[in-house]
Formats: sequence, C-alpha cells, structure tokens
Amino acid sequence: MNAPLATLYPAHLATLRARADQALVLGGFDHLLIAASTPLGKFLDDQDYPFVANPHFRHWLPLTDAPGSWIAYTPGGKPKLVFVQPHDYWHVVPEAPHGYWVEHFDIVIVRSAEEAVAQLPKGRSAVLAPACPAIGGVEVNNPQTVLDYLHWYRSYKTPYELALMREANRIGARAHRAAAAAFRAGESEFGIHLAYLAAARQIDAELPYASIVALNRHGAVLHYMHFDRTPPAEHRSFLIDAGASCAGYASDITRTYAAPHAAEFQALIDSMDAAQQGYAANVRAGQSYPELHLHAHHVLAQVLREHGFIRMSAESAVESGVTSAFFPHGLGHPIGLQVHDVAGFQQSERGGSIPRPAGHPYLRMTRVLEPGMVVTIEPGLYFIDMLLAELRDKPVAADIDWAKVDAFRQYGGIRIEDDVVCTDAAPENLTRDAFTGLD
Ligand code: GLY
Ligand code: MN
Ligand code: MN
Repeated sequence: MNAPLATLYPAHLATLRARADQALVLGGFDHLLIAASTPLGKFLDDQDYPFVANPHFRHWLPLTDAPGSWIAYTPGGKPKLVFVQPHDYWHVVPEAPHGYWVEHFDIVIVRSAEEAVAQLPKGRSAVLAPACPAIGGVEVNNPQTVLDYLHWYRSYKTPYELALMREANRIGARAHRAAAAAFRAGESEFGIHLAYLAAARQIDAELPYASIVALNRHGAVLHYMHFDRTPPAEHRSFLIDAGASCAGYASDITRTYAAPHAAEFQALIDSMDAAQQGYAANVRAGQSYPELHLHAHHVLAQVLREHGFIRMSAESAVESGVTSAFFPHGLGHPIGLQVHDVAGFQQSERGGSIPRPAGHPYLRMTRVLEPGMVVTIEPGLYFIDMLLAELRDKPVAADIDWAKVDAFRQYGGIRIEDDVVCTDAAPENLTRDAFTGLD
C-alpha cells in the first residue's frame, strides 16, 4: 500500500534538490531553470500538436498542463514556480496550482510566456528547455554535464515516483481488462481501442505512447499503428501494447490472447508467459540487463524447440540468428517519465555510453540493474514474413519446420510486457500486481 503522495513528496523534492545542487556545481552554474516548454505548432497552420511538458519539469511537479511555465531553482533557496495562467476566453485556462506540493514552492502567477521569462533569476543558469521553438528572453543551453548528471540519477526512482508508476499500471491494467473483453466480444481493432480509452479514462493524447491494437496477423507488425474499423471474419489472436499516464509517469503493458479455438497458439502464449515471468524474476541488483536479453534468446530457442518450430540445438539457434528472426527487438528498456526513459546506455554520472552486444541493434538498455531502476521486460515471438523469408535462404533453414511456421503466421505474434522495479531484494512487478489487484 502506498503512503499518501503528500507524505512521499517532500523526500522526493529533497532528492531532486540535492541532485540539482551537485549538477550545478559540476556544470559551474548558479541556477537551474526548467521550462515546461510551449506547444509545437503545425507547419503552415494555426493548430498545435498535443502539448507534452518537458520531462525535467514533470520530474519536479505533477503538472502536465502548464505550457509556458518555468521552475527556477537556486541552491539553498525554495524552488520557484512561475506559472502561466493566460487571460484567454478561447481555451480552458490551466487551473491555479493546488494540491500537496504547492507549499514547497514559491509560486508566481503570470499571464503570458513572456512575462514568465521576466521572472527568472539572472546569472549563470543551466536552462533545460527545447531550443525550438525559441523562447524569447532566455538563452537555452541544455548543458551536457548537467543533463548527464540528472539523467543518470533519474534512473533511480524515489518512493514518490514508484507510487505514481503503480497507479499508471493500475489504470493500464484496468483498461487492458476492458480491451480483452472487447476482443472476446468480437469488436474491431478500433472498437477495442475505444473500450481501452473509456476504461482508462484517458484520451489518445494523454497516453504515454500510441497504442498497438493488433488482431490476427497484425500482431506481426511490431509498431502496428493502424486501427481497422471493421472486425475480421474470424478472431484468432489479439496483441495489445498500451499504457497509461499518471501525473506524467508512464506504464507500458503488452498482453497477447488466443481465441478459444486456437489452443495451439494458447500453448505457445503459456510458454512465453512462463519465460517472461522468469526474466522478470531476474530483475535484481547486479544483474546485467544485456546478459538477461541474451539469456532470453536461449530460453526462446528452447520454446521454439519444444513447440516443434526448430530442430537445431538452442545454442546454434542463437548463434545462427534464428532466434533473432523470431525475436527481433530488445528485451526492454528503462521507463519512468518517458516510456523509453533516459540513460539506458549511460556509463556513469559523467555520461559515456555502454555499447550493445554485437548482433542486437535494438536493445535499449545496456546497464547493470540497481535498486530503484524500473525496466520493462517484454520478450516477443513473431511470425514476420520479411524476416522469415530471409531465414529461409540460410543454411539453417533445413532445421526449421516450415509447415509449422506457416501454420502460425495467421496469429501474428506474441509479446508480453511488464514494468518491473529492481529493489534490494525480490523485484516488484508493477504490472502483475496491478492485474492481481483488479481481481
Ligand atoms: N510500447 C513501446 C514499447 O513497448 O517499447
Ligand atoms: Mn516497452
Ligand atoms: Mn510496450
């Protein structure tokens, strides 16, 4: 059970202040200025893209709708929020700040982004903001030393952040249940998507990423972003990769389902589910994430053998690239304020980059796991025409049961994805706990 956010927030803020103090020393700055940023306009249009606040801003405050606002922090002082609340009868004006965090800030309300900039302290400032569109009156510098330090420590979530990520998973799990019911009721991809949004009580623009709602063969398209408006003639399988947001924090959840008559596909899902839970159990301090990814390839080879897709040894299936044809993406990535959170490759608080293992170009996390990190664990097994065609031309093709492979193309593929916290002891699986909590 979470402590109330009001109880957790002061320690979170103290942690961010201490990190900022050190980042400013390293960079040689007196102030940290963080723009919420402003909406990005569409080319030759008077419309904006949906507004997404700078993740550094959302790290300090649970404010996702504050375009033009700024946080100004000077070591030793109370942080200041310069909050833009325009006089505007065209739009809904952002609500005046309220809630558990306001007492921890000096809050100044202004009427425009220009007025906000005038409230910022002068001097040597690290200014964290998108450089485009330009913000008049302040020079954006995004100093690398400061960013490296802050990004490195953003990997270690505070108890406050974990509470928000638990809630993001609870919202996502609730919506996944509704989507699964819509699949069983024979809905189209579009209909399932609407059921998901309704249960999450979030619109597309509020989700941390665009949902993947894939029936049958569409599950083989890794980033399937289309929504068929009509149901297929037959529902055989369903892959949904969809998350939810909570105060600027993301969940990232994938589930795969078989129709009741598709027992052979259900058996494969069951094997992948058992394998996935095995990897999630390995989210432990000291575990190298790329080694876990490589281990997942070996386990996948066993699954492919047990289900009769391949005849070669697991070792040779991995070495010859067979497992990569069926599992062509990484095991997972850091998650937090962004669905693909920062610092997955970072070598130290001073920056640097840890390379991916050779032959695994899509892995997004090469660090050793430590307490406080949150990562996704999302193994996959897909029947992708393009990759299978390439495999068919290789000598190893002789050791693959192509009739069996062809019979499974109709199901598209399997991905199962949870968000898992590394702790001092056993991992905390935010996603499984959230589904269990619905029962
Ligand atoms: N939904 C994006 C991902 O799984 O990484
Ligand atoms: Mn993911
Ligand atoms: Mn995902």
